[in-house]
Order: sequence, then C-alpha cells, then structure tokens
Amino acid sequence: MTSLGEPYIPHGGPPQTPLPSPQIFTAMGNEGIYAMLADFYRLLGKSKISNMFPNSEEELLAASRRSAAFFVQICGGPQQYTEKYGPPRLRARHMPFAISLADKAVWLDCFREVIETAPEKYGFPRQHIDGFIAWLTAFAGWMVNQRE
Ligand code: HEM
Repeated sequence: MTSLGEPYIPHGGPPQTPLPSPQIFTAMGNEGIYAMLADFYRLLGKSKISNMFPNSEEELLAASRRSAAFFVQICGGPQQYTEKYGPPRLRARHMPFAISLADKAVWLDCFREVIETAPEKYGFPRQHIDGFIAWLTAFAGWMVNQRE
C-alpha cells in the first residue's frame, strides 16, 4: 500500500486482448455502467484491499464514477474519461498504489461477483460477459506493479 521501490513490470507489456464489445454500452448506457461500478466499488470497500480505497461512502462513490467514465469509453461509449481527466495511462495512474498479484486477484473476484448479476441488475448483455472478463483479466495483469 505504501512502498514503492523499483516497480515490477509484467512480462509481455501492455495486453493486446481485444476491447470489450461496443454493444455493452449500447445495451447499458451511462446509467447501467455507473450503477455497476458503484456496486463494484462498494464490494472493493468491503474487500481485503479496502485499505487502498476511500473510507467515506461519498468519496468511494466519487472514485467509482471516475472508473465508470473509463468503462463507458472502453465499452463503446463517448470518450468521457479522456475528456474529463486526460489520457487514461492507467498503469501510471495506479503507480501510487502497491498492487501485487494477490491484490489483482481480489480486485478481479469483486468484479466477477458484480458481473454475475449484471444482466438482471444493469442490463449487461450476457453474450458479451466472456469477452469482457477476458479483456478485464488481461488488463488487470498490466496494473500489477509489485512482486508479492
Ligand atoms: C489489478 C487490480 C487493481 C487495483 C488493486 C486497483 C486499484 C485502484 C485504486 C486504489 C484506485 C484509486 C481509487 C481512488 O480514486 O481513490 C484505482 C483507480 C482506477 N482504476 Fe484501478 N485497480 C486495479 C485494476 C484496474 C483495472 C484492471 C482497471 C481498468 C480496467 C482499473 C481502472 C481504474 C480507473 C479508471 C481508476 C480511476 C483513475 C482516476 O482516478 O482517474 N483499475 N484503482
């Protein structure tokens, strides 16, 4: 959580996995994606890596909205994140946090939990879950910056 000496660089560099289907944004819209990310951050806030995230409900929700803006744009929606915050450069933006493989596993487990009920709750198109998770898993690997 603090550290950080030399960052760990995952083998293979940035992932080349295809982006999630743009039909995800078409189906969910801003509303569905923001609601899904709010619930994902609530889970993170109760997880083993909760110490990385804001304590207050209000700040946690604000953090979820920054993430949601990014997910809107990679799921085929408008470039909201880039317009508000500039180029994503997410590996660099995650550098202030020490992220190990174990942390990544917790993060992905929280996302998988949210995705399980996402078709009913937020209109996530079921046929695009596998592609979304494949992209998410590869991309999460690229956020890892610490050996265990
Ligand atoms: C691998 C495990 C990951 C961990 C432990 C992690 C952790 C974090 C933390 C602690 C923040 C800052 C929260 C705050 O604002 O207080 C953050 C922000 C963010 N994360 Fe992650 N993250 C991970 C993976 C990912 C992945 C895979 C993505 C995208 C697919 C992602 C997208 C974002 C975005 C868009 C932000 C907002 C950056 C901003 O504030 O502008 N993260 N993450």
